[in-house]
Amino acid sequence: MEIIIRKETSNDFRKVEEATRQAFGYPERIERGGIGCPYEHWMVNELRKRDGVKDLSLVATVGGEIIGHVICSNAIVKNDENEKAVQNLGPISVLPQYQKQGVGKALINELIRNAKEQGHGAFLFFGRPEYYPQFGFVEAETFGISDSEGYNYPSFMGMELIPGYLGDVRGGRFYESDIYNDELNRNAVRRFDQQFID
Ligand SMILES: CC(C)(COP(=O)(O)OP(=O)(O)OC[C@H]1O[C@@H](n2cnc3c(N)ncnc32)[C@H](O)[C@@H]1OP(=O)(O)O)[C@@H](O)C(=O)NCCC(=O)NCCS
Repeated sequence: MEIIIRKETSNDFRKVEEATRQAFGYPERIERGGIGCPYEHWMVNELRKRDGVKDLSLVATVGGEIIGHVICSNAIVKNDENEKAVQNLGPISVLPQYQKQGVGKALINELIRNAKEQGHGAFLFFGRPEYYPQFGFVEAETFGISDSEGYNYPSFMGMELIPGYLGDVRGGRFYESDIYNDELNRNAVRRFDQQFID
């Protein structure tokens, strides 16, 4: 299987949302959101209008078909003295029938390469702690950074792309786009999802 990773274009938007909806359509996610559908396809759509980083939106294709996608959004870390821009990784999706065949790995490796090339300083995000360490992501605690409420846990991870980038926001908190607030976005997601129902 030849996997090609390239930047997303506007022609890909709908296919990417469909793939994201399928990838996140597993029971635990549906249950957690409590509205009968995932949120992530709406997030991807919304990120294109705000907070999303166009140059860090990549698709994975096989035989010309979109089978995976990753995007990042602008977020910040702040302590009493300083504020730093960081990239929040996600959502990342691989169609269920293509999972565990190296597609996610290819997307993340290319994402890291692109982000370094574009001069971004660091990633910080919430994700599966059993998946991301293989790429060099470590707990955010390593950088002395906590979530917006001041907590740390294994699913809150990061990576410096520029060595020492997070040094002057040690002790700071991470603030991400409010697209990640399920409670706030419940109705908008429900409405958006209608267009995916036959
Ligand atoms: C998570 C996800 C993006 C991973 O993509 P993928 O293409 O299935 O993963 P890969 O095949 O590239 O995995 C690379 C390695 O990690 C392992 N791996 C994959 N998913 C894993 C998981 N959930 N937990 C632990 N290890 C995992 C693979 O076995 C593989 O190991 P190997 O290199 O020793 O063979 C994909 O499974 C997905 O879309 N899941 C549903 C949506 C989701 O949960 N997104 C992420 C939210 S944080």
